[in-house]
Amino acid sequence: MTTDSTARHLTRREALGSAAALCGLAVLASGLTQGQAQARMLPSAETLPDGRVKVPLSQLSRVGAVVVIDVRGERTAVVRVSRSTYRALVLVCTHQGAPVNPSGKGFACSDTSQGHRSRFRRNGSVESGPAYGPLERLPLRKDGTSLIVG
Ligand code: FES
Repeated sequence: MTTDSTARHLTRREALGSAAALCGLAVLASGLTQGQAQARMLPSAETLPDGRVKVPLSQLSRVGAVVVIDVRGERTAVVRVSRSTYRALVLVCTHQGAPVNPSGKGFACSDTSQGHRSRFRRNGSVESGPAYGPLERLPLRKDGTSLIVG
């Protein structure tokens, strides 16, 4: 194991703790556009007793739409990747664990002292490093008119 991998794991845990503390926000929604992503509250998402989150498909009505939710303390983006494909991506950078946010047509690692500006595509794959691995995916399944995440 390289030093880089160890640092990523430790920092990711720290980042998750910070994310959980900040997640009085609970649920946010945003749409990815060519420009800057916008965020808004998503009151229609429901946290189930086991911690999974139910997201209405109506919130992801177009390809590229993104809903940001908290799944058991992990800030997670639910993305409509194509007409029939959705992904749930943990918003923690795979380089050293800095927060990742919707940006442009994908996601960007923060450029604060924690992050180093890696970029990820809409499907979570790396567009530019230094991150070398895709964003972590959470299980996701369709249930009628909703997605169940976690
Ligand atoms: S933490 Fe280094 S690029 Fe994200």
